Amino acid sequence: MIHYKIGVVGLGVMGQNLALNIASKGFPVAGFDTDKAKSEVSAALFAGNNAGVLPSLPDLVAALEAPRRILIMVPAGSPVDAVIDGLKPHLHPQDILMDGGNSFFLDTVRRGKDLEPAGIRFIGMGVSGGEEGARHGPALMPGGPEGAYELLAPSLEAIAAKVDGEPCCAYIGEGGAGHYVKMVHNGIEYAVMQLLCEAYDLMKRGLGMSAAEMQDVFAAWNRTEMGSYLLEITAAVLGKTDAETGQPMLDVILDRAGQKGTGKWTSQNALDLGVAVPTINAALEGRILSAVKDERVTASKLMAGPNPSFAGDRSRAVETVRGALCTATLTAYAQGFSLMREASREYRFNLRFAEIAKIWRGGCIIRAKMLERIRAAFARDAELSNLMVADELQPVVKVDGGSLREAVAMAAGLGIPAMGMAASLGYIDSYRTERLPQNLLQAQRDFFGAHGYERTDKPRGKQFHAEWME
Ligand code: 6PG
Repeated sequence: MIHYKIGVVGLGVMGQNLALNIASKGFPVAGFDTDKAKSEVSAALFAGNNAGVLPSLPDLVAALEAPRRILIMVPAGSPVDAVIDGLKPHLHPQDILMDGGNSFFLDTVRRGKDLEPAGIRFIGMGVSGGEEGARHGPALMPGGPEGAYELLAPSLEAIAAKVDGEPCCAYIGEGGAGHYVKMVHNGIEYAVMQLLCEAYDLMKRGLGMSAAEMQDVFAAWNRTEMGSYLLEITAAVLGKTDAETGQPMLDVILDRAGQKGTGKWTSQNALDLGVAVPTINAALEGRILSAVKDERVTASKLMAGPNPSFAGDRSRAVETVRGALCTATLTAYAQGFSLMREASREYRFNLRFAEIAKIWRGGCIIRAKMLERIRAAFARDAELSNLMVADELQPVVKVDGGSLREAVAMAAGLGIPAMGMAASLGYIDSYRTERLPQNLLQAQRDFFGAHGYERTDKPRGKQFHAEWME
């Protein structure tokens, strides 16, 4: 009987492609799925490709070399627990389970603890890059017991995307660190996608540009310093024509966004940790507002707004949108990294931010040239408080900061929503303001609730109260 090196449970699009990727790198793979159709399709694809499909979980476990290494690729939530429960009775101490789904990081912590008494090592691994990435090189964010990662490293680093010969995979940290970092990746992903949507809206409705014109503009931007995978696919999307109607594909797609929850978790967690992530929040709210399509259709007939067509210099306006997108995108990364900085303290993850930026340079959905600057900034100063103040990022903040302000003003004037850009600008302006108006807020709190305030001329932490009604 063949001794397979890695098991993959869950042969949906991601599981199947990861299995083929692993097998192609010289690690024989045993797959399993409860779904008969998926098992049959995979069996046909695996045949002759260093992989096989096993009929049951016990068979899969029995066919694996010890210590067993099993990658679980099923939807986040109860399906992961069901697979773990099914596998557990057949596993032995030292065996390693990996969860490659978008699991909530606290679930990962719980699962790791539950498996500990049996000596089973649990790795929560963020996997990014979609179907194509899974097959040819994803970004991998594994977290959990470091000793287990060391055993997995040769296979994981072999299948991961490479940038300048370096794998987009590295040990992230203990417990739920890998899934936490993947969650923040997705929060940034939400933000950048929203910003791209706003740039598209400003050009389409504001500047009256055609899909072909916008395709050229996005493609040209992608060839510059701000190049990214999301920019690249936005250009490609704009170039696609609907076969049925002959119209640009985008024009026939309904404007209601879906979401699976990782972006929402990022915002929720940021609120819990007290970290400002306004662009990520705005991205979520953009999706939520898009989803109330019927209400918006009604409101569009009742609530008048300004004429959305821009009357000024069109090519200058395109340049304004470009600069705005570039700066706002940086704020999304800045927010994500400042959230991870706080999480690293709170959960004792000991995150290495230069390493995370390195991983994100390739394979994942938010891969972007900007990450090279971000990596350099954290390599120089691991304790960097915020990317917006890093020397490495100053060209992006300084050169284009004005464009963001102009684009937000333009959007407001035209009545085109740009919640992500406006949130990014607010983030920059708040962060760079020495004295914010929250002195008034403190006075209000003290007025109605005697909550106290600190004074500018006394040591921090000392509380004062005024008799406001005298
Ligand atoms: C990735 C993606 C991937 C998935 C998102 C989509 O990194 O490969 O982030 O994980 O496409 O979960 O999320 P929504 O359905 O919430 O947009």
